[in-house]
Amino acid sequence: MTPPKPTSRPDKVSLWRYLRLFRKDILSAQPHRLYRAWMAEFRTPFFRSYLVNQPELIDTVLKKRPDDFPKSNRISEGLRPLLGDSVFLTNGDTWKRQRRIIDPAFEGGRLKDTFPAMHAAGQAAVDRLRLQSGGVVEFEEVTSHIAADVIFRTLFSVPIEHEIAAQVFDKFRSYQREQPILNIAAFVPLPKWLPRLHSRRTKKNAKDIRALIQRLTADRAELIARGGAPDDLATKIMTTRDPETGRGFDTQEMVDQVAIFFLAGHETSASALAWTLYLLAMYPEWQDSLAEEAAALDTPDFSVMSRLKLSRDVFREALRLYPPVPMMVREAKCPERFRNRDVPEGSQIVISPWHLHRQERLWERPDEFDPTRWGTENGKTCQRNAYIPFSTGSRVCPGAGFAMIEGPLLLSMLLRHFRFELVAGQTPVPVAHLTVRSKDGIWLRLVER
Ligand code: HEM
Repeated sequence: MTPPKPTSRPDKVSLWRYLRLFRKDILSAQPHRLYRAWMAEFRTPFFRSYLVNQPELIDTVLKKRPDDFPKSNRISEGLRPLLGDSVFLTNGDTWKRQRRIIDPAFEGGRLKDTFPAMHAAGQAAVDRLRLQSGGVVEFEEVTSHIAADVIFRTLFSVPIEHEIAAQVFDKFRSYQREQPILNIAAFVPLPKWLPRLHSRRTKKNAKDIRALIQRLTADRAELIARGGAPDDLATKIMTTRDPETGRGFDTQEMVDQVAIFFLAGHETSASALAWTLYLLAMYPEWQDSLAEEAAALDTPDFSVMSRLKLSRDVFREALRLYPPVPMMVREAKCPERFRNRDVPEGSQIVISPWHLHRQERLWERPDEFDPTRWGTENGKTCQRNAYIPFSTGSRVCPGAGFAMIEGPLLLSMLLRHFRFELVAGQTPVPVAHLTVRSKDGIWLRLVER
């Protein structure tokens, strides 16, 4: 029994069948050979895309020459109404300036300060789940709630029950339902002349979410001005000046950034946590080991993190099998030659953590769940060369360190109190939405230890 993997499509299908499959789900629309290929080309009347699945090529695109492969504007289509000019979408000098202001908030030393807020979110989750103990529970919903709580507590020092936080969370869910955020335009670019229509509801939802975030941000700006603002991520980011220009974010720019922190910070962690719980339900012996290790939480301060080693290895393995961001798209700014193939200017370059993490020519037993692999030669080599759940290079996820504390900590807190059991007939099918989700949710039985 190996962890769930979507069935691949047959090798040869017509373009229209491919597009139809694609609309349904990016992962199952791909042929099996991509798990072995170093590179693949998708050629259609409108566009050319190249999937690169070889560490050297990925290095070129993400690490060595990132300026020659900016983020593809096409991926922004679905996100623009909500995210404006967030760091996730910008390129060039604007992006560089934004990262200079954001990055210091996520540096090692600062992360330590987020621990109490994360721990409080974990405790609140345990208290909520106690009420559902003994029942069968859908965990994507649960982990979304927990991860959103973590973001609000670390960013603005308010719990998810806070009036505005709760509204943002709610409205965001309906935005997601209206506008699947990973637009197929990203991978299968539509011709430029085709108008991009966002429904009125989508636009209204985005506007409402931004108005709520604007209130949180304006309130915080006032507190900072008066003195006495809490020492959290929002205060840190809003008081940091760009060392090169001396300018910080104005309120509008800060709204854009908060929107992406909320989105990137909770969707991804929620996906990772839900899949990890499913994997642990498949392998109860790992669950017991983690529960034992979690006794270290008797001293709940930051130093405990260095003792939650198994939890970290399990979380890392879950990020390999179910990378929350399954694919990333860049655009070639000039003509390239990859593996003796011409890649014309303007081509879409797709980097797929999903396929790289299961690259059959690199990983031993790529489809198996084995958290001990990180201690093996093959695991260590692949971790360096073929493991990019947080991307790599200058555009690497600024929240990577944050997520690697949040994930193992929350897992340990949950496992200390509960067991998670499989439910007959409820095998999740991975599909790529904005993040890798299960087609019909992740259902598990929750039992108090
Ligand atoms: C398990 C959790 C997470 C995973 C797997 C993850 C993964 C990623 C990946 C792959 C990217 C690059 C996307 C691309 O280039 O297209 C990214 C970017 C980003 N992430 Fe994360 N992330 C996680 C958690 C977080 C958290 C907790 C935060 C903030 C609190 C965050 C904030 C961001 C931001 C702002 C960007 C845009 C960076 C840029 O383009 O310069 N992420 N993340």
